This record gives sequence, C-alpha cells and structure tokens, in this order.
Amino acid sequence: MSKIVSLCKRRGFIFPSSEIYGGFGSCYDFGPLGVEMKNNIKKIWWDEMIKNYENMIGMDAAILMNPQVWQASGHLTAGFVDELVECKSCHKRFRADEIKSKNCLDCGGGLTEPKKFNLMMKTFVGSVEDEAAVTYLRPETCQGIYVNFENVLNSMRMKIPLGIAQIGKAFRNEITPKDFIYRTREFEQMEMQWFCHPKEAAKWFDYWKTERLKWYLNSGIKKENIRIKEIEKSQLPHYAKRVIDIEYKFSFGWKEIEGVHNRGDWDLSNHSKYSGKDLRYYNEETKERYFPYIIETSGGVDRSFFAFLYDAYQEVEGGRTKTTESTKEREILLKLDKKIAPIKVAVLPLVRNKPELVKKAKEVYQLLKPHFMCQYDELGSIGRRYRRQDEIATIFCLTVDFESLEQDDLTIRNRDTMKQERVKTKELISILKEKLTNN
Ligand code: GAP
Repeated sequence: MSKIVSLCKRRGFIFPSSEIYGGFGSCYDFGPLGVEMKNNIKKIWWDEMIKNYENMIGMDAAILMNPQVWQASGHLTAGFVDELVECKSCHKRFRADEIKSKNCLDCGGGLTEPKKFNLMMKTFVGSVEDEAAVTYLRPETCQGIYVNFENVLNSMRMKIPLGIAQIGKAFRNEITPKDFIYRTREFEQMEMQWFCHPKEAAKWFDYWKTERLKWYLNSGIKKENIRIKEIEKSQLPHYAKRVIDIEYKFSFGWKEIEGVHNRGDWDLSNHSKYSGKDLRYYNEETKERYFPYIIETSGGVDRSFFAFLYDAYQEVEGGRTKTTESTKEREILLKLDKKIAPIKVAVLPLVRNKPELVKKAKEVYQLLKPHFMCQYDELGSIGRRYRRQDEIATIFCLTVDFESLEQDDLTIRNRDTMKQERVKTKELISILKEKLTNN
C-alpha cells in the first residue's frame, strides 16, 4: 500500500487534498495522470452500459436534492447510521464494530457506550442558515434516478425492463475514513438502476451479478483477486432484499468495490408515498399497474481505480530496460489495461544533444497529440526514460533514432513484451489506433 501511495504522489496520480495546509479529512485530489485514468474508467463503464445493453439510457442528476428525498429513501429515518464510541477525554470517535480495545487508541481514555451516528453531510441552501434551509449532499447517486423515473419513461417512451445509468459524486461523513482512497468522505459512484417486473427480479439479479464481474475481468483485474460475496440477511442495508458484494483482494483484506442490490419496490413506493405521485408502472398490454423492482449495480469509481492500481502494480528485477545504470534496482511496472492507462504513447528522441533528432521527435509528438494521450520526454538516458514510462503504464514508447532521419520511421516499444518494431511515420497513427483498440 505505501508503495502505491508513494507512486501516486510522485508521478501525479493522487495528491492529499489541500496538502500545503496539512491535508483535509481524508480528501484526495486526482493529479494530471490520475484524472486521465479516472476518466478512462468512467468512459469504459459508461460505454459498456449505454452501448452494450438494450433499453439502457443515462442521466446526470443534481447533487443537492429536496430534503424530503432523504426522508423517503430512509437515509434520515432508518438505517443510514454507523455505531460509534467516543473517548471521554479527547472526544475522538471510533466505529464500534472496528475498535477492539475498551480504551481510546490515541490517549488511552475511557470510551462511551456505542451511539448511532448518521452519515449524511448537512449543508444549508439560501442566505438564512436555519432548520428550513437544511439540505444534504447526496450519500448515493441513485435517488436522483428514482425521482426522475416518470420523467424518463415519458420523455424516452420506454418500456420495462429498462436501465438508467449515472456517474457522479456522493458524500458520507464516514467516522473512520481510511486505507487511502478506499474509504473517503467524498467519492464518486457509477450506478445503474434496472427497473423490472417483480417476478423477474431474481433472474435479473443473477444476470447483473455476472455482467458486473465480467466487466472487471475484461478491464484487466486478475481472476484470483476478485470474488463475489453474498451478504447475510442480518447485514443487509435498510433498502435491500438481497445483496452481493464484488470484492477485491487488497493487501488490507478482501474488500467491497461494488454491490449488486435487489432493492425491491422500496424506493419507488416510498417516493410515491412521500411525494403523493403515483410512480407505479402501467403495462398497456397486460393492463397491470405495479411498482417495478429495482436491481442496482453500485460501483465506486475511486475503489475500482484503487483496485486497478493494485492489480497492475509489479516490481520486476532490474535490467528489464537494459539501462547502463544500476541494473540491480527493482523496477516498477504498472501493467494497467490499455483502455485504462492514462498515457498511451510516449515520444522519445534517442539522445537530446542532437537537434535533428529532437526536431523530428517533436514533430512526431505534435502529429500524435490530437489522437492519443501522449508525453514527450528527452531527459536522461533512454533506459531511464523507458523505466519512467513503465512506471506510469504507458503502452507504447516511440523512439526517434538516427535511422529515423534517413528512413522517416521510428521504433515502437511495447510495454509488456518490450519488443520493438520499426514503423513508417506516415503509418503511425493507423498502426497505433489498431494496436490500442484490438485485443
Ligand atoms: N446506492 C447504493 C449504494 O450506495 P453502497 O454499498 O453504500 O451502495 C456502493 O455503495 C459503492 O460506493 C461501494 O461498493 C463503494 O465502491 C462506493 N463507496 C461507498 N462508500 C464509499 C466511501 N466512503 N469511499 C469510497 N467509496 C465508497
């Protein structure tokens, strides 16, 4: 874990938020490479959901919602709480289910009995900060979909079963945020809500469970590092009839990265009750009116980002890049899937003290830049530069050498095989496009 955290900081994936002020409550900023990687994850999820499945559309709801939504959803009234204990002397709080000791882990003081602690993040809307102005930052993105169910049905003229996908920020006042970006107070979710006939809910639950596991495997996660866990009835969240977690094997244990939930008619029936709008679906053919059941796939963008990093991180014996420097050093190789890697191509002049090589390499960089996420690097030996690119998962390194000047070509080095091949500059774009899209 510490190696990954350090790589993230050193190479511009993730920085602690407001670091010059000492950071802030487990918030993190995604740096130049982090934002590319995160956008790639969101893009492959979105493309998969919207393009791959029938009867699936997307939307993007506001983070701030009418506070009645949270009464209806049960987040203010039912089970959206963690039990915590508080130190009687320093007032530090701990999750009751996590602390094994009877005393404060910081100062050794006595602890209170467990108390319920709501995880909603409160804020005020408007100029007067009174109770009437209180609202909440959404703790899950899906409620924005449920309250728009009727709008989507009417505007898109769709029939059940149908799915609505959404990506967006969610906020929870976690008592003990920890494990880097695994549990934070601000995070992003990729959620899909599948509305179906209650009699078909069990079938669709199994279908989505399999599809979601497949998505992680197709995105590069190794089979032995991912598994499905059925959640016991007594542990189910307040809205769910059945839940499975997709878990990843981090160094701190098997941990949930996504949940598939059968939410029954909990959400639509409660929103009907609280809003006074009848959100039942009417089937014109069978003349049946009913609350659809919802099968939800709820993944964390940050958690999958973390799992992809974990899975890709390798240290290999020095010498892989044939540097003249210490070949005994272990080298970092980040074997991210090509769809997820932040940088696809690096352009490197063989040496930087030959102006004609630098000129040609810069021309190639300008040629490729509109088509691929590219980097140009001329600093240090060529071996060192390969190493720097391997560390950030760059798929191809293009080297401009003396032969390139005569032949108008260059070498393409493959990150995983380290094989090099010569390619004509004029064919470069189409060859790279092909290599980056084909398996
Ligand atoms: N709409 C259902 C829902 O929100 P959840 O199991 O509470 O279900 C779904 O959350 C996913 O959101 C989790 O599997 C995880 O990936 C992500 N998530 C939840 N809390 C998180 C936190 N504090 N930090 C990072 N990701 C979180």
